[in-house]
Amino acid sequence: MRTVYVNGQYLPEQEASVSIFDRGFLFADGVYEVTSVLGGKLIDFDGHARRLQRSLGEMEMRAPVERGELLAIHRELVTLNEIEDGLIYLQVTRGAPADRDFVYPDEDVAPTIVLFTQSKPGLADSPAARAGISVITIPDARWGRRDIKTVQLLYPSMGKMAAKKAGADDAWMVEDGQVTEGTSNNAYIVKNGAIITRQLSTEILHGITRAAVLRLAREAQMTVEERGFTPDEAREADEAFVTSASAFVMPVVKIDGVALGEGTPGPVARRLREIYLEEALKIAI
Ligand code: PDD
Repeated sequence: MRTVYVNGQYLPEQEASVSIFDRGFLFADGVYEVTSVLGGKLIDFDGHARRLQRSLGEMEMRAPVERGELLAIHRELVTLNEIEDGLIYLQVTRGAPADRDFVYPDEDVAPTIVLFTQSKPGLADSPAARAGISVITIPDARWGRRDIKTVQLLYPSMGKMAAKKAGADDAWMVEDGQVTEGTSNNAYIVKNGAIITRQLSTEILHGITRAAVLRLAREAQMTVEERGFTPDEAREADEAFVTSASAFVMPVVKIDGVALGEGTPGPVARRLREIYLEEALKIAI
């Protein structure tokens, strides 16, 4: 049984609860972060803490705890739940006013903060990373502020289900003829050695893993092009991959049923996964 954190208390998971009037529940009025844990240490905690601050700022929400306390809560949960490899999920909502109302509640309504762990032994050594995953392309029907990490995840969830129904692992979303990102990851293709991924804007989440991977790729003298690409270009690419806090660098070997290259993880994706994990472990806290 897990110990979770809710509004200042560490509780057994079945004793933890939030109000039915919580705006996270009624309006998806909340933001979240997922931080991975490897060898009992947090990967890129600072990146996630900074993005949380930014998401809260864009939503005009106040932070329930400051950085130091947030780090302490993360660490305490890792210890209490004996997490060697896994994830920490964090959610902050605008709290629970006395009734349902579209208007934001007054400042005296405290935000709700919830954290819980997910144990994933061998997270960095997944069979999926060795085989690569398959994706389909679907229209991007999300709202226009995808740079804010809100908990409105219904469309990405529908996208995963569409992928599953089609016999694939995940979906890449397409808007105005170009791939935005994966349902819960950033999307990349590799052509003639160049790593191509959509530029940052309000149309995609500014991935913490994306930032690290692009920095490491440039440091390794690899060519990076931050620009949009079409599904056609993707199906004709030499390689493809996705990045996220939970999947790190995950090779994509099939797009809309079309195998890329040899249909196995390509050398660029494999190398980036290796250097990302090496660096992430070095700076884990
Ligand atoms: N998802 N794009 C989207 C839409 C995402 O939901 C995520 C993360 C990313 C990658 O961001 P990062 O590298 O900071 O994890 C990109 C998390 C892992 C999730 O929803 O579980």
